[in-house]
Amino acid sequence: MTVAIKHHESERVPVMAGEEKQHRLGQFPTPDAIADFMASLFHARWRELDLLDAGAGEGALTRAVITRLCGLRHKPARITVTAYELDETLIPSLRARLRDCRDECERSGVRFSASALNEDFIAAAVPIVRGDFFAPPRPHFNAALVNPPYRKIHSDSPTRLLLRSAGIEASNLYAGFVALIAKLLADQGELVAITPRSFCNGPYFKPFRSGFLETMSLRRLHVFESRSVAFSRDDVLQENIIVHAVKDPAKPERVTISSSSGAPGGPVAARKVPYGQVVSPGDPHQFIHLAQSGTEDTARAIMGRLSGSLPALGLSASSTGVHRSM
Ligand SMILES: C[S@@+](CC[C@H](N)C(=O)[O-])C[C@H]1O[C@@H](n2cnc3c(N)ncnc32)[C@H](O)[C@@H]1O
Repeated sequence: MTVAIKHHESERVPVMAGEEKQHRLGQFPTPDAIADFMASLFHARWRELDLLDAGAGEGALTRAVITRLCGLRHKPARITVTAYELDETLIPSLRARLRDCRDECERSGVRFSASALNEDFIAAAVPIVRGDFFAPPRPHFNAALVNPPYRKIHSDSPTRLLLRSAGIEASNLYAGFVALIAKLLADQGELVAITPRSFCNGPYFKPFRSGFLETMSLRRLHVFESRSVAFSRDDVLQENIIVHAVKDPAKPERVTISSSSGAPGGPVAARKVPYGQVVSPGDPHQFIHLAQSGTEDTARAIMGRLSGSLPALGLSASSTGVHRSM
């Protein structure tokens, strides 16, 4: 196995105290049960897999995919992993996980190689996406899974400008990661991402949504009912969503919308919804609707037919529903 570790001095993370680093780098590792659930969402049965793990941390997501694939009756013949992780203190654990993956693949008769790159994923990927003359050759990733770091990026920050140079407008690091990954994937390549739910609506994420939905075809959206359960170990109070999408401009007839509490082994409720109910064809904002029940669909359809704003109709909205204004 090649577990090549590249170091770039300029990209090294300054020494920071634990909590400060955790927040600056968005270090919230994926619990094993969620990593396994994410790995189960890939559809393709690859003969040859080139997997991208951007912001790999200690490699929980890659490990989950390898365990799943090695357990299949029809396993891939070859798996190649490219893992980017900015924090050099995590690289030894990442390498150890990749060695576990190699051992598991060896036992299963699957050829395995991996690169653990101690690099800033955005700085590394942008020149490839831009097609810079001296950029490394474009990789052929047919799958990517990611739990990206989340942090606001200000409009004049170097990261924002770098992303903009690759045609990506992102107000949060997580959207920048996902947009870059979408651009790096090969046609029909699959993405599974766990991110905050905030990109589904709101004006700040409109450029991200438009770009993403143009090239990627949503296949499944999984919502956690509780804000805190999925990442309870780290006290993350973000509303999280898991997205499975395929790089294909053609939209499917239906998208699966599922939900669970996020507790390991808990039940998952799922239903298939027409694509147009998730993203309305004529919606200039390209909102992504996550109605989890028929009742929510009906409420949305009624709201869509209302003319005028809620206050003008004497109504107000809160997280518990729509109320008559007093
Ligand atoms: C939310 S954690 C997820 C870690 C791991 N993938 C998992 O699911 O457990 C995000 C990871 O991205 C890393 N990271 C943050 N900024 C990065 C960057 N610009 N390039 C590469 N990795 C980065 C963090 O150090 C952290 O390990």
